Amino acid sequence: MAHATMTFPPDFLWGTATSSYQVEGDNTNSDWYTWEAAGHIKGDLGAGRAADWWENAERDLDIAAEMGNNAHRLSLEWSRIEPEPSVFDEVAIARYRAILQGCHDRGLEPMVTLHHFSNPLWLVEKGDFNNDIVINYFRRYATKVATELGDLIPKWITINEPMTYCVMRYLTGEFPKPSRLGFGGLFEAIHNLLRCHVAAYHAIKEIHPEALIGTANNIQIFEPRPGGNIIDRWWANLVRRIYNDSWQDALHTGRYRGLVGSKFFEGLAGTYDFVGVNYYTRFYVRFPPPPGFVERDWGPDAVVSDGDYGEVYARGLFKVIDHVWKRYRKPIYITENGVPDAADRLRPGFLLDHLRQVWYAINFCYPVMGYYHWSLVDNFEWDRGWTQRFGLIAIDPQTQERTWRPSARLYREICQSYSLNDEMAQHYAPGMLPVMWPGDLPGSSEPRPL
Ligand code: BGC
Repeated sequence: MAHATMTFPPDFLWGTATSSYQVEGDNTNSDWYTWEAAGHIKGDLGAGRAADWWENAERDLDIAAEMGNNAHRLSLEWSRIEPEPSVFDEVAIARYRAILQGCHDRGLEPMVTLHHFSNPLWLVEKGDFNNDIVINYFRRYATKVATELGDLIPKWITINEPMTYCVMRYLTGEFPKPSRLGFGGLFEAIHNLLRCHVAAYHAIKEIHPEALIGTANNIQIFEPRPGGNIIDRWWANLVRRIYNDSWQDALHTGRYRGLVGSKFFEGLAGTYDFVGVNYYTRFYVRFPPPPGFVERDWGPDAVVSDGDYGEVYARGLFKVIDHVWKRYRKPIYITENGVPDAADRLRPGFLLDHLRQVWYAINFCYPVMGYYHWSLVDNFEWDRGWTQRFGLIAIDPQTQERTWRPSARLYREICQSYSLNDEMAQHYAPGMLPVMWPGDLPGSSEPRPL
């Protein structure tokens, strides 16, 4: 019998994403290590061995390959590569070489992030992104990685989610404390992060002109609360401009526009080959915002994921793709998209519906080149510790036992067939059938009412 099928291009990249601190374990030279030891995380389990990647990444790369993936996004831990200022650890670099080679050997094209939320402790002691010495250090770190590992890295992310990183550090206080809190510290850090990006971009291109480089931007849907007034609408626009657009706009034009005024950065304009989109959810916002600025609000009918992480809002992914394409006209990678869902009650439908948005975009000629689901395995979820589980594969952090969630099997079917079809929906998320295929499917017992 013919099945309703949504087919993806043959060169589409199917991946998952992870980050070093969240999966490697025992990153004792990172600022997160001391931060979590001081009790700043939820629950009684710290990162510990995390998903044990420093010793055993290959076990999960095997799983990714078995899941039909042809790509993987991972990050390097700066504090392992340079545990003390100007001291590079060749053993750590060799371990990363083995992991990256392990990706290639399994047919997983690596996309590598240089900075994903964690810093070497020595850098923090020097004021990290509130001290412009960070730029030279970051340039040297990027140069070292490009020299030693760059032959294995076709795609690069210099900085993961600069805006999230700064909001969580400077405004909400959920990430390790910076030397200068508040908006002053935040915009100073953004400026230095931009300078770090420029330095790394040019350093990598000098050694590997063919490398494709971008940043992973957390872009969410921010809408004024339903029934909101003109001030709420003004506020939603401002939040979108600063949180969603200001960073990537700066890479595009060379000029960063903050809350007041703007600043031009030499060598910044055009320093990206693609736009990385990390999409998770939609927020309703209102003015004035709560202290810390992050408002977790949604409509009464919203489907909400574990721990009130956010609303499941798949159409938002298409809206974000549309926005990013019209603004920048560069290839797009969905560098993260996922949901905390320990029981896997939402994830199968989430996967189908979000990938349907990607398929829809591709069919209207938006250049979405790949999708990296967050995440391959459960991992250490920053300030929320292990209380939220994003993995396609469940992990017991104490025994390191792995269990395939149903959505991992679904993702395998999708990746292997380069398609979504009604049989998959019927099997893994029957509730999605009328959403994805509102017409009558072959074999339906009753025609759907008009
Ligand atoms: C981050 C990940 C994080 C994920 C889920 C993203 O903002 O890049 O590190 O685990 O969201 O919260």
